[in-house]
Amino acid sequence: MKLSGNTILITGGTSGIGYEMAKEFIKNKNTVIVTGRNEQKFQKVKNDLKGVVAIKSDVSNPDDVKALYEHIAKDYPSLNVLINNAGVMTEINLQKHQLSATDLTKEIDISVKGTIWMNDAFIPLLKKNRNAATVTVSSALAFVPLAITPVYCAAKAALHSYTLSLREQLRNTDVKVFELAPPATETELLTVFNEEDKKGLSVMSVQAMVASFFKGLSNDKFEICPGQSSMLRFMSRFFPSFILKQLSKSVTRMQAAN
Ligand SMILES: NC(=O)c1ccc[n+]([C@@H]2O[C@H](COP(=O)([O-])OP(=O)(O)OC[C@H]3O[C@@H](n4cnc5c(N)ncnc54)[C@H](OP(=O)(O)O)[C@@H]3O)[C@@H](O)[C@H]2O)c1
Repeated sequence: MKLSGNTILITGGTSGIGYEMAKEFIKNKNTVIVTGRNEQKFQKVKNDLKGVVAIKSDVSNPDDVKALYEHIAKDYPSLNVLINNAGVMTEINLQKHQLSATDLTKEIDISVKGTIWMNDAFIPLLKKNRNAATVTVSSALAFVPLAITPVYCAAKAALHSYTLSLREQLRNTDVKVFELAPPATETELLTVFNEEDKKGLSVMSVQAMVASFFKGLSNDKFEICPGQSSMLRFMSRFFPSFILKQLSKSVTRMQAAN
């Protein structure tokens, strides 16, 4: 995929990985639109990233997705790249009835339903434009779960499977289907973990992770697994019980704390 001259929509582009992508895409002379829910984060985008358009939109709300599509189709009909990046992560103790039904499954609403609804709305527009692509931001945890964040990992595994099907279904079109499976990356998302959980974890800088993403995009590498993500994918295939056990050590800490 070419890295300049695109019109790019990044969901959840107001912080972390999406923000860094927006910054780099702007430097590379693209038109960039980001979405998110939080007003304060919009202000930061407006102040720091000149030229980026920020639109308030919640991917887990189908009415917002429809309104966003109508806005983009009218004002940015040249949109050719969609990056489904919005996401949250929650630590959940499955033995306790702690969360409301909505909170218990919000990662499914945001990551899975949000990505499916966004692609459903935007693929017809992407198909009309040249050099089109849709990107799923899954996770290294799509390959092997981190047991203290069970719903998050289940959502990312579902996204991985959905993206494989999407790529097969779009094979007869000019829309490329990429998956970015980041490893642990230094963003607000990781604040769910305490220092004990992070011990021994190699956390990638957001700049290095996004640089690896750009390299993968420019080489048309359809499954991009930066840093430790490719190792986790390998381990999940060849040593699944071992790697699951390694990633489950934090369960004891979580259960003692709850
Ligand atoms: N950081 C990691 O270690 C890591 C590893 C693997 C995968 N990932 C994935 O990378 C993606 C980006 O995460 P990040 O690490 O950059 O986290 P982040 O800094 O917390 O950014 C998440 C972004 O998503 C937005 N967002 C959350 N819910 C949304 C919704 N319902 N609708 C629209 N926007 C929403 C947030 O803005 P608002 O809160 O204002 O809506 C924010 O802009 C996620 O899909 C995450 O699962 C991250």
